[in-house]
Amino acid sequence: MTPAASDSGETLVLGIETSCDETAAAVVARSAGGSGRLLSSIVRTQWEDHRAFGGVVPEIAARAHAECLDEIIAMALQEAGVSLKRIDGFAAAAGPGLIGGLIVGVISAKAIALATAKPFLAVNHLEAHALTVGLTDGLPPPYLMLLVSGGHTQVQLVRGVGDYARISTTIDDALGEAFDKTAKLLGLPQPGGPAVEMAALAGNPARFELPRPMKGRAEPHFSFSGLKTAVRQRAREAAPLSEADIADLCAGFQQAVLETVLDRCSKAISIARAEAGVELRHFVAAGGVAANAALRSGLTGLAANEGLAFHAPPLALCGDNAAMIAWAGSERLARGLVDPLDTPVRPRWPLDTEAVKVRGAGVKA
Ligand code: KG4
Ligand code: ZN
Repeated sequence: MTPAASDSGETLVLGIETSCDETAAAVVARSAGGSGRLLSSIVRTQWEDHRAFGGVVPEIAARAHAECLDEIIAMALQEAGVSLKRIDGFAAAAGPGLIGGLIVGVISAKAIALATAKPFLAVNHLEAHALTVGLTDGLPPPYLMLLVSGGHTQVQLVRGVGDYARISTTIDDALGEAFDKTAKLLGLPQPGGPAVEMAALAGNPARFELPRPMKGRAEPHFSFSGLKTAVRQRAREAAPLSEADIADLCAGFQQAVLETVLDRCSKAISIARAEAGVELRHFVAAGGVAANAALRSGLTGLAANEGLAFHAPPLALCGDNAAMIAWAGSERLARGLVDPLDTPVRPRWPLDTEAVKVRGAGVKA
């Protein structure tokens, strides 16, 4: 990580992320030309706090954020080698997410902004995932993006900062949620994605017959709950499960996911091409599940076949982090999109507010 240059003319933004179960703070620098540098990124995951409950408990999450956020911010400033005075804006994830956690991060950012008389920036967590490739690859919109996380599975046409068109969404579970539930039913630890990916390495993807939900359908949407149920069924039939059975089930699940996602993305690409109004040249994957190696390599191949360049953030910036919040904040600051101190948190905050509701999509739309 490069230390902050004291006289660089760059704009520095501190970002705070507390929307789910990671407490994070980071500092990024943005040049007048629009390129970014990551100066620090601190992430404390709360998985240990929630382990006994088998999932994230909102009240525990909010308390854990409140207990350590000050220290995480101090660490981010120290790692960046800058004082609070040098920061030009304070960004926090203001939604979507768990309300208690969002309040902790947003109130902290507002308080520091008020005390230092610097702008506050309310960042949409999904927009932060969407814009991360601007920081890591210097890639500006427009591009088509697959966002795959614990709460969302969408393809969005990213036209510009604050300007999105949703092409597709899941009609039931998010992909990360499907990984987590599959891990849970197979007795693997949480978060389930990395555990399933690891187990799948040793497995035979062809042993168990599993569905490819929505494959071939004309509309570009996703569905994963039937696949997860099918894994449960196959697991029951094969019980008691050996390590090899679990590996085969994970490999089969991941293969089914891959085929489904590639089919859905190819459909989304053709729809987006017809709607974009600009020539699409880049395909981006973002969110926690974009860390999956099989998915990354499958998407790289799909993009190449479609004549698109593929981009995904480095693994550390796929899952929740504050570098993406700081970067989205600095992109907004550069455009004068600052927020008043009475800005509320938004537990529900779709990227494309005009998107037509899809039956079954619920809050994951
Ligand atoms: O973006 P993220 O950190 O948080 C949300 O905004 O939801 O995504 C977390 C999700 C979890 O469901 C986790 O199991 C999944 O991303 N995940 C993965 C991998 N790493 C994290 N899924 C599949 N393969 C991975 N390597
Ligand atoms: Zn996220």
